[in-house]
Amino acid sequence: MHCCCARKIIVWSLCLIFSLSHSILVCGSSPPKHLCRQDQRDALWEFKSEFPLSGMAADEKTQTWRNNSDCCSWDGITCDPKTGNVAELNLWGSSLNGPLRSKSSLFRLQHLQSLDLSSSNLAGILPDSIGDLKYLRVLRLSGCNLFGKLPSSLGNLSDLTHLELDGNGFTGELPVSIGNLKQLTKLLVSSSKLSGNFHHALLNLTELTAINLVSNQLEGTLPSNMSSLSKLEYFDIGSNLFSGFVPSSLFMIPSLIHLKLERNHFNSLLEIGNISSPSKLQILSLGGNKLSGPIPGFISKLVELSSLDLSFWDTLRGDVDFSIFLHLKSLTSLDISTLNTRSIVDMSLFSHFESLYLLSLSRNTVKFSSTLHMVSPIGSLALASCNISEFPKFLRTQTSLFYLDISQNQIKGQVPEWLWSLPGLEYVDFSRNSFTGFDGPAGVFQKKEIYLLDISWNAFKNPFPLLPKSITFLSASDNQFSGEILKTICQLDSLETLVLSNNNFSGFIPRCFEKFNTTLTVLHLQNNSLSGEFPEESVSVGLISLDVGHNQLSGELPKSLMNCTGLEFLNVEENKFNDTFPFWLRVLPGLQFLVLRSNEFHGPIYSPEGSINFPKLRIFDISKNLFSGALPSDYFFGWSEMSSGVYTPDNKQKRFIGIGFSNYVKSVVLANKGLEMKLLGTSFNIYKSIDVSGNRFQGEIPKSIGLLKEMIVLNMSNNAFIGSIPPSLSNLTNLQSLDLSRNRLSGKIPPELGKLTFLAWMNFSYNNLEGPIPQGTQIQTQDSSSFLQNPGLCGAPLQKTCSGGEEATINKDEEEDQVLSWIAAAIAYVPGVFCGFVVGHILASYRHDWFKRIFHCFS
Ligand SMILES: *[C@@H]1O[C@H](CO)[C@@H](O)[C@H](O)[C@H]1NC(C)=O
Ligand SMILES: *[C@@H]1O[C@H](CO)[C@@H](O)[C@H](O)[C@H]1NC(C)=O
Ligand SMILES: *[C@@H]1O[C@H](CO)[C@@H](O)[C@H](O)[C@H]1NC(C)=O
Ligand SMILES: *[C@@H]1O[C@H](CO)[C@@H](O)[C@H](O)[C@H]1NC(C)=O
Ligand SMILES: *[C@@H]1O[C@H](CO)[C@@H](O)[C@H](O)[C@H]1NC(C)=O
Ligand SMILES: *[C@@H]1O[C@H](CO)[C@@H](O)[C@H](O)[C@H]1NC(C)=O
Ligand SMILES: *[C@@H]1O[C@H](CO)[C@@H](O)[C@H](O)[C@H]1NC(C)=O
Ligand SMILES: *[C@@H]1O[C@H](CO)[C@@H](O)[C@H](O)[C@H]1NC(C)=O
Ligand SMILES: *[C@@H]1O[C@H](CO)[C@@H](O)[C@H](O)[C@H]1NC(C)=O
Ligand SMILES: *[C@@H]1O[C@H](CO)[C@@H](O)[C@H](O)[C@H]1NC(C)=O
Ligand SMILES: *[C@@H]1O[C@H](CO)[C@@H](O)[C@H](O)[C@H]1NC(C)=O
Repeated sequence: MHCCCARKIIVWSLCLIFSLSHSILVCGSSPPKHLCRQDQRDALWEFKSEFPLSGMAADEKTQTWRNNSDCCSWDGITCDPKTGNVAELNLWGSSLNGPLRSKSSLFRLQHLQSLDLSSSNLAGILPDSIGDLKYLRVLRLSGCNLFGKLPSSLGNLSDLTHLELDGNGFTGELPVSIGNLKQLTKLLVSSSKLSGNFHHALLNLTELTAINLVSNQLEGTLPSNMSSLSKLEYFDIGSNLFSGFVPSSLFMIPSLIHLKLERNHFNSLLEIGNISSPSKLQILSLGGNKLSGPIPGFISKLVELSSLDLSFWDTLRGDVDFSIFLHLKSLTSLDISTLNTRSIVDMSLFSHFESLYLLSLSRNTVKFSSTLHMVSPIGSLALASCNISEFPKFLRTQTSLFYLDISQNQIKGQVPEWLWSLPGLEYVDFSRNSFTGFDGPAGVFQKKEIYLLDISWNAFKNPFPLLPKSITFLSASDNQFSGEILKTICQLDSLETLVLSNNNFSGFIPRCFEKFNTTLTVLHLQNNSLSGEFPEESVSVGLISLDVGHNQLSGELPKSLMNCTGLEFLNVEENKFNDTFPFWLRVLPGLQFLVLRSNEFHGPIYSPEGSINFPKLRIFDISKNLFSGALPSDYFFGWSEMSSGVYTPDNKQKRFIGIGFSNYVKSVVLANKGLEMKLLGTSFNIYKSIDVSGNRFQGEIPKSIGLLKEMIVLNMSNNAFIGSIPPSLSNLTNLQSLDLSRNRLSGKIPPELGKLTFLAWMNFSYNNLEGPIPQGTQIQTQDSSSFLQNPGLCGAPLQKTCSGGEEATINKDEEEDQVLSWIAAAIAYVPGVFCGFVVGHILASYRHDWFKRIFHCFS
């Protein structure tokens, strides 16, 4: 054959391939020059100029555009070969920076069929004009930092097949007009802040193959008949607020491959007799809902399943027939943690799965024989709180294991040496067992690539293990380690979290954490016997949480903390720090907890040069020091976290079947109700307190204290405050504990304090107060000791009656106010959040009745 012809054939067959793959390409050997239309080129050129350079010019496709060349050849542009119109604009990942304006020249590209600006910083709303691009088939704006409502003009794009808007900040509801997009096959709007219900209009979109609305705030029930979505393959609505039934019609959609409904509030799933067979379902995630009752047997018919998550299914202490999982031979991931069942999971059940890779059985009772052999190459195994008393020997042959959680069991003795021969091990959680040490030589796992090691709450003794350089998270708190903290800790490359609290380490703090200048974020050395100064070199600028409380540290606070702009938690309680008040901390905008309790700090805490308003501060405890001076009446201006009622509980629990991160615990000892209590973990998020007791403050109590409306505990006792009690204290409607004892306060107790209905404990003793004790349920139930040693006070609960006409009475109207304010205060708490956190996380060293009281009102 003639060579020329051969070339032609190749060219034509290439053309055929391209046109088959729907690419719009110019065919033929010599494409016409300057195919781009003038108006389109101008529009593009203008569009480019709408976005200032982001500085990452290398990424910016628009930077390669040249005004004097054919725009159809520009990077990211595809033209219609016939008309020269720009049909496709793909600037994915080119870091456009700036808002998309409603008059943007983009909207002059009237013939666009595909627009992809994903991974840009468009920081603004999606303008209505998007509806002008009426030939759009593909619209991709994922990760563009868009917010506001989705425009209803999207419903004008009647050719649209792909609407991909993941990872933005859209709010409000999906526009109903989306129901017009009859051609739509992909609707992806995950990770935004969408609210409202699942629109029934979506049921009209019968071409849909994928719906992804994961991580929004959608609520309500799903439609009971979803069978019109007959081509659906992916239905992902995890991490929303949906409730009610899981519609059985979903399981009847024959094409369905992924059904992900995890982390919602679904509360029932009907037993489905005959599923459309054969089911193609490969992923079924129902975990973290409110499903209860028996596990439905139909699950055993979903034989194609590779991933099944039934975690937190509440079987109500019922039996579970674990053999239903035996039919699911293709499983690679199974999460059946926290089933609340009385049945025991026998590990041998899983011994024949050939591809099981992720297995979570946490919080069920698990048994296994010492000869168990598992054929499946398990990578991640979670056996937390499974009543295991013996180290699982079957792991010896699990050479794929990278994640092992056997926390909260009763395993004793040494961690076996063979564990470290598993080549891929990276995350190990042994916490809350009774381990005493590591078998083998001191550096037995030093050469491994371990990232996370949690051995807290055990009985480990010296020698302290030599750590792998790779480690990022180490918690060894609550053990019996002693001696100096090993300098080898300074040789670690990327330590982020170091928790050695509650051991008996002595000596100095190693002078090296500065080296982890950006990585070390958590340094907790609480409750050891460390002494000496806190070296400046031991402050890493990345610190978020620093706790060296309950040691014997002396000297000054390291000023380099000033450079830790992310610092939120600073606790140095119960040491011997001898310093003036750290005014320089005012440069740290995010500081939430400042605890200097029980040290030798001295001098004023007010400086005329500038106020110390800590906008985020929620716990301010400088008690038992030698601070002195007076506080101006506007001292508490600008402490906005304590004065505004926004709860910001970080309740995004990290719960993974695979990689998990154990939590370290923040803790602070606080005086409350005249007693000391230990506050742990997330209870911090609801707790707001000021404790300046046990110092040498003089002058009046600042009237601005009344601004701190969210405060729960206020302790100003044991100082030398004079003057009268500010009536503005009655603005602190959440106050539960108030201690003004042992000062030199005079005048009357403001009667308004009788209205503080949460105020369960108060102490005014040892002052010079006079007049009648106000009435009000809470005040009258106090012990008389709360008012002792005030020569002029009278009335119940003191024995001394007031002379005629002096009783401070609350009239009828005021009593009604009192009831109202009680209701208002109760509403102000978000019950679930409040009770949940308090139950879970406050450990008190005494029985605290007022918390119980609050539970009762919400339960
Ligand atoms: C690009 O070209 C158009 C016309 O060809 C002209 O009007 C415009 O000024 C040019 N822009 C730049 C920045 O060169
Ligand atoms: C586009 O949508 C808007 C809002 O939904 C509507 O007012 C307008 O009439 C529509 N335009 C066309 C051409 O359909
Ligand atoms: C679905 O489409 C039909 C006809 O196309 C229309 O009558 C109906 O109102 C639509 N339903 C919703 C919920 O949009
Ligand atoms: C569900 O809806 C489809 C049409 O979308 C209809 O054909 C079917 O009968 C309905 N099923 C039930 C049980 O209502
Ligand atoms: C399920 O299918 C079987 C046969 O495959 C049939 O005997 C049975 O009646 C069906 N059950 C229901 C509830 O449809
Ligand atoms: C936990 O294990 C112990 C023995 O190791 C056993 O006596 C006890 O009954 C188990 N508890 C449960 C709830 O299974
Ligand atoms: C802690 O260590 C010191 C010596 O550094 C020792 O005197 C003390 O007994 C130890 N305390 C405990 C509880 O082991
Ligand atoms: C962190 O420390 C290293 C040397 O230890 C230094 O090269 C680097 O610049 C420091 N980074 C910052 C952000 O200070
Ligand atoms: C804070 O950092 C700056 C530069 O990063 C440095 O010059 C300064 O000495 C640091 N301040 C303290 C108190 O360490
Ligand atoms: C604190 O340090 C100063 C100066 O170093 C010293 O005079 C003072 O006695 C110290 N205070 C206490 C309580 O040790
Ligand atoms: C106390 O609250 C009242 C009403 O909200 C307000 O008028 C008053 O200024 C507040 N007092 C203080 C000191 O905040």
